Amino acid sequence: MSDRDPPVLTAMPYVEAAFIPGQVGEEQVSEAVVVAIDVLRATTTAVTALANGARAILPVAEPEDGRQTMATFPPGEALLCGERYGKPLPGFHLGNSPAEYRPEVVRGKTIILTTTNGTLLLAKCAKAPEVLLGALVNAAAVVEWLEAWKGDVLLACAGRHGGFSLEDTVCAGLIVSRLGGEWRKGPGAAEALGLYGVYRRDLRRALWESPHGRYLCDIGLGDDLVDCAAVDRYHLVPRRQGEVFGV
Ligand code: MLT
Repeated sequence: MSDRDPPVLTAMPYVEAAFIPGQVGEEQVSEAVVVAIDVLRATTTAVTALANGARAILPVAEPEDGRQTMATFPPGEALLCGERYGKPLPGFHLGNSPAEYRPEVVRGKTIILTTTNGTLLLAKCAKAPEVLLGALVNAAAVVEWLEAWKGDVLLACAGRHGGFSLEDTVCAGLIVSRLGGEWRKGPGAAEALGLYGVYRRDLRRALWESPHGRYLCDIGLGDDLVDCAAVDRYHLVPRRQGEVFGV
């Protein structure tokens, strides 16, 4: 059986959502496909980079880990990228704005990425058999992938500084809304679906009304919200392959 073969079905597929990384434990991830969601901005940026030709995304926990990892790559093969508190880091090639990850910048490169909340969530997913990256920009592709899989799924929101994040939860709700009627929904998935219902007519509002969206506007990165709100812009699903995410 290849690692993309769907599981043998014994029950209807089950989808649950975790609103904060603190709800993502070994028990939750050990048998589920995990979709890690950080709409503002880590998973949006990762999807954008791969859509524009990056070779892979290599998440690292801390900026210093990034610098050390960068030193192991031959010149020109990798870019050191990420943020702290939304702002680019000294000596790094790129921050965490999707628009920076243009094809001519990222094509063929490994993106070494450290972010405040997103890479922390990925560390919590370490024991999951399968981890995908989801955002509004690739929601349709994620749903297609999950419909082909039809096994248990955990939609894991990165949140903000350990707490709840409106835009991640609304994205999880959008994904739940698009799954077929045979999916059983856990309580978190049902709540995410309900919150999505509040914003479904204008999903951009969830980004502009969220504390992190307002913070990004305050530090001059409001244009990023437009890129992060572009539902279904890219049709690809980054998937963990060893230490990196690729397509
Ligand atoms: C994060 O991982 O905390 C976010 O992507 C923060 C950001 O860059 O806006």
